[in-house]
Amino acid sequence: MNTTDLGNLVQFAFLIGASLFAMGLHLMNSPASARNGNRLSAIGMCIAVISELVFVANSSPGIGNWLIIIGGLLVGGAAGLRLARTVAMTAMPQLVSLFNAMGGGAAALLAIDDFIRLSGQRTPEGALASLDGWLIFFIVVDVVVGSVTFTGSLIASTKLMGRLKGQPIILPGGRFLSAVALIVSISCSIVLVLAGAGLFNYDTETLDVLLIAALVGALIFGVTMVLPIGGADMPVVISLLNAFTGTAVAMAGFVVGNVILIVAGALVGASGAILTKLMADAMNRSIANILVGGFGVAEGSQAAMTSEGGTIREVSVDDAAIQLAYASKVVIVPGYGLAVAQAQHGVRELADLLEARGIDVSYAIHPVAGRMPGHMNVLLAEANVPYPQLKEMDDINPEFERTDVALVIGANDVTNPAARTDRSSPIFGMPILDVDRARSIIVIKRSMGRGYAGVDNPLYVNPKTGMYFADAKQGLANLIAAVKAQ
Ligand code: TAP
Repeated sequence: MNTTDLGNLVQFAFLIGASLFAMGLHLMNSPASARNGNRLSAIGMCIAVISELVFVANSSPGIGNWLIIIGGLLVGGAAGLRLARTVAMTAMPQLVSLFNAMGGGAAALLAIDDFIRLSGQRTPEGALASLDGWLIFFIVVDVVVGSVTFTGSLIASTKLMGRLKGQPIILPGGRFLSAVALIVSISCSIVLVLAGAGLFNYDTETLDVLLIAALVGALIFGVTMVLPIGGADMPVVISLLNAFTGTAVAMAGFVVGNVILIVAGALVGASGAILTKLMADAMNRSIANILVGGFGVAEGSQAAMTSEGGTIREVSVDDAAIQLAYASKVVIVPGYGLAVAQAQHGVRELADLLEARGIDVSYAIHPVAGRMPGHMNVLLAEANVPYPQLKEMDDINPEFERTDVALVIGANDVTNPAARTDRSSPIFGMPILDVDRARSIIVIKRSMGRGYAGVDNPLYVNPKTGMYFADAKQGLANLIAAVKAQ
């Protein structure tokens, strides 16, 4: 087969790959079809990578070192597979962040490599006039966005792993350094693009210095941008960095003229941007507000809630079981604690028991319950909870008034009525599950510990609320036994 035919075949393979990405994304709309969506996208990626390798092997024999290429594929693939298989669901955000760093860093390296290659094509005076002006634009955007993503994502994952404190870290002069780094990076980038368009005629060394300055500025900005962001804002930042990764990869696609990179990057960039907006809306925060940083967690977030302003009523497991067993409508409200305790199978067993007694059971899903988008959906899907029982916040909220028992398991912030009423609360305005409107409420958690936002929850001192202090898994096991005894 000649190179042109092979090229056409590869473009066709890319088209199939791109279609599989789009179909895969579409299937991810529902937890029921998400696994297949993931598989389809992975097949699309395999087709893309294999076709590119076949094309390169045939059209440019002698290019690259195959030992490094195949070795890299095997080592990277094995590491990715192992990480993905062993990661705890609650540690997913930091893994995503690490992957973002890899994507952004790889895209930036690709553009730097192209810049070095193009250096050889400069005129003797070093002008970039022979270059396509757009190409240098894509290179520069790729280097800058990829580098911000690289360092920003590394800081974000380090914070989420707990190796750096999760609260906002405000360095002395940090904002100034951030502004200087950004200005240096952007101005050097603009000069480079103008040089590429033939407006300036710099020698090779000057152009190299400009690229290095843009690169270093972007690397510093990535660090200074993420350090002051903390607490509940971290997932939004990770999603934003994910959108940056997509943009950098799409730019890399333009740099090396690879359609599938452009498509994959654009899909990641667009979906990351949409998710960022949705998450910021769900937490009632603007993206600009989050990026300005320094917010996102209240003082003393690890501390326990004060019992000031109300009395806490404890319930025994038998009392809780009686309430549940004789209810006609129960809404289960899962949260981060359920995920930590890995109590999803227990909750399913309890729900089955109650349903067998003719009780109407559903699950209230808050968009930011847990620690990642869709966390509760994934968790409950793992225990094969029937998907129609999962009700989104807007659908379930009107039902609480008709609910006999709202059973809150390891959820805190997403049920906090202060978000509706207390203007001084850091979570004021965040849409919540209206659990307090149920006829009675049972809360399973280990202590009076606060949630992610670090604020007190008046739900716990509501006279309708009974607190059952236990680890979610153990508490559910006790509750199941007690309901069976009814
Ligand atoms: P949280 O408000 O974080 O509350 C979780 C509660 O679970 C804690 O109060 C804790 O109380 C309890 N808990 C912990 N381990 C437990 C265990 N083994 N058994 C029983 N209970 C346990 O959770 P939420 O209501 O799901 O709200 C999520 C919060 O995280 C929101 O503030 C949200 O903005 C933020 N956030 C969300 C995301 C996304 S995208 N979902 C990402 C990052 C942050 P005890 O210590 O007393 O047991």
